[in-house]
Amino acid sequence: MTIVTATPISTLLRDGTATAHSQAENTSFMSALGSGNLTRQDAVNLTAQYYFIYTALEQAARRGCSADPEGVTTSRIADPRLERVPALGRDLAAMIGPDWREQISPLPATRQYVATLEHIPDADAPALIAHHYVRYLGDIAGGQVIARVLAGHYGFTADELNFYDFSAIGKIPPYRKQYKDTLDSLPFDEVERASLLSNARQAFTLNSRVFIELAG
Ligand code: HEM
Repeated sequence: MTIVTATPISTLLRDGTATAHSQAENTSFMSALGSGNLTRQDAVNLTAQYYFIYTALEQAARRGCSADPEGVTTSRIADPRLERVPALGRDLAAMIGPDWREQISPLPATRQYVATLEHIPDADAPALIAHHYVRYLGDIAGGQVIARVLAGHYGFTADELNFYDFSAIGKIPPYRKQYKDTLDSLPFDEVERASLLSNARQAFTLNSRVFIELAG
């Protein structure tokens, strides 16, 4: 008898996006940011683009939760404690000033990312979860390294770095494990697993395009 065991979803996502992750990490903007070779203004510009991206991402996640009232898919992943929009507002006010909202605008690549998020149907759990995974798991992993560089190399203060502060979720390693355990228990069939992976790859590409425009 042959027992066919499907690859856990968390492994599928991590391994299936490894190339896309290293492409995003190695864009000239991200690698220069991480090594302290950009200006403060570059980091402010990134934070501004995140404001538009997370506004759309968090609206999409909330729509997804409303479409999953039984808590079977999106509601199990989209933890409101992860939401970044209030933190981004505080960071931008500290970085730019009280009129920050009038001072920032989305790049074309950001508009494309936002439009993609806005067009995800409420019940498309694989797409919503893929986008959620790419941003939030990245933020609670590599994002913590970036936060240290922003403080150390660029002199950002804690009131400008709320975006990277995930104390609301408690300790990161157990949270990350629990997030991955939840991914692994999602009731997705083969078609949904394939959709999850292709949406996650697309999410990385959308991020990389924003970084490429930020460098230009
Ligand atoms: C300078 C840029 C970056 C660095 C240094 C970096 C570093 C890392 C590291 C060290 C991990 C592994 C953490 C662990 O498992 O303990 C990680 C995971 C991750 N990163 Fe990044 N990263 C960067 C950029 C990005 C970007 C731009 C994104 C998304 C747009 C991203 C998304 C992710 C995701 C989704 C994971 C979780 C992988 C998994 O275990 O499933 N990262 N990153």
